Amino acid sequence: MKIMVLNGSPKGDRSDCMHMTRAFLAGMDSVAGQEVHTLHVIDRHIEYCKGCLSCMRNGGNCVIEDDMKDILEEILGSDLLVFSFPLYGFAMPAPLKALLDRTLPLGKMDMRKVGERYEHVEQADFSHLRYVMICGCGFPNAKGNFEGVLQQWRLMFGPDALAITVPEAPMFNAPEAAGVTGPFLELVTQAGREYAQSGAVTPETMEKLSVPMIPDETYAAIVNGGASGA
Ligand SMILES: Cc1cc2nc3c(=O)[nH]c(=O)nc-3n(C[C@H](O)[C@H](O)[C@H](O)COP(=O)(O)O)c2cc1C
Repeated sequence: MKIMVLNGSPKGDRSDCMHMTRAFLAGMDSVAGQEVHTLHVIDRHIEYCKGCLSCMRNGGNCVIEDDMKDILEEILGSDLLVFSFPLYGFAMPAPLKALLDRTLPLGKMDMRKVGERYEHVEQADFSHLRYVMICGCGFPNAKGNFEGVLQQWRLMFGPDALAITVPEAPMFNAPEAAGVTGPFLELVTQAGREYAQSGAVTPETMEKLSVPMIPDETYAAIVNGGASGA
């Protein structure tokens, strides 16, 4: 399977979230060899969408000349897109959102009703694409934190697109936390294995992934410099 990782962390390879993404991909790879290309969004020249909508009227040609033409081709040539990014202001980081906005040429202006809502009719074939989101954040809580990005994710890619959201993510880059991050990353690898086998992660594994690595008060105390022992 051709997998394109869209790494939305401005920290590139040093990203906390990429620890989970690498673990997930290792799980997928253990089931069947995968062809993975990681695009560090921050390193590419991606202008903001101008909102002219001409791409939707002229067969998908964007008026901006930057890296998006090649990126769109690579997206369409992939089987799976893995969005790996940190939560920024309860949403995705701006460079990744800019990339997402620039996928507008994949649709044309015509709209159709699907259920109770409307969507644009495709002008490129991306029906084969599947989507995974791996998002970490710095607070210890998932509630009151990930709801916005999850809602956006489902509206963009449908209710069944896999979303793994993990608080306390800075611990992945703390060697002293390996005692708790190691077993957690094993779970993420298990999720990758299941996804490669069946296209979904079992409710049991998702339930385990929803348990914070350490209690919220302990995490907050460590961040605040008042305790140790993660
Ligand atoms: C500009 C900015 C906004 C952030 N907003 C949130 C937020 O809304 N909620 C949260 O829990 N953490 C937030 N964080 C913390 C990051 O999500 C966290 O540090 C994450 O582990 C960084 O992952 P990365 O190393 O993959 O970039 C924010 C960090 C930055 C720099």
